[in-house]
Amino acid sequence: MNKQNPIGVFDSGFGGISVVKEIKRQLPHENIIFFGDSKYNPYGTKSNEEITQRCIAISDTLIEKNAKAIVIACNTATSVCVKYLRQNYSIDFIGMEPALKVACDQGSHRKIAVWATEVTLREKKFQQLMEHFKDQHTIYSIPCPKLVQLVEQNELDNIELVNQVLDEYIQQTPDVDSIVLGCTHFVFYKDFLEKKLQGNVQVIDGNQGTVHHLKDILETKDLLNDQKENGYIQWMNSDEEKLKCSELLFKR
Ligand code: DGL
Repeated sequence: MNKQNPIGVFDSGFGGISVVKEIKRQLPHENIIFFGDSKYNPYGTKSNEEITQRCIAISDTLIEKNAKAIVIACNTATSVCVKYLRQNYSIDFIGMEPALKVACDQGSHRKIAVWATEVTLREKKFQQLMEHFKDQHTIYSIPCPKLVQLVEQNELDNIELVNQVLDEYIQQTPDVDSIVLGCTHFVFYKDFLEKKLQGNVQVIDGNQGTVHHLKDILETKDLLNDQKENGYIQWMNSDEEKLKCSELLFKR
């Protein structure tokens, strides 16, 4: 495997672009191919079979393009099929899960809300994670499908609508110390949300941790790109019309 080969990154749509931003921040010399599956978005309400079929098709595409590792920049896809992908392909898959541990590590008896998709919250992976922490902390699961829709419909600049939808989910969230953003689409709302909560609630996402993990894996396999210049990003999307939007979101 060549070090200059790109890292493949995919998501059900635009959410994974928030992960691409973090990869570029931590690993600027890496080449990246990002595949957004906007045509089939959302994954968060689909069946496990449908999600797995899409993840297989996308992984095949990224491997055809010589990806040296694949980041599943989607909590939903990870919870449904990371195991299957790891068992059936020979390259490394880096998955994501809601950063509940980070929130729990902040202190004892924390009150934590996890905002994620319906699928992520109901799947075994998250249920096991909750099980691990639930005796020491109080954890609330809140599905937030509208936050996915707004990003996919390119409505992030519609401040009135963004505020309205965030208020809706804040109202459904009991008083907590932290909100974990357990969906990569939600990371685009982090600044809005922090401003709204005025520093009273910590807002946590898993992007930084995921990229640390990616870096460790590439380092261990001696696959970190050692080129001097900054790497390229190739944008792909199952809905061709969304390509322009990908670049705009990346630059936000
Ligand atoms: N971005 C995906 C995640 O991190 C899910 C969005 C969707 O419902 O498709 O879970």
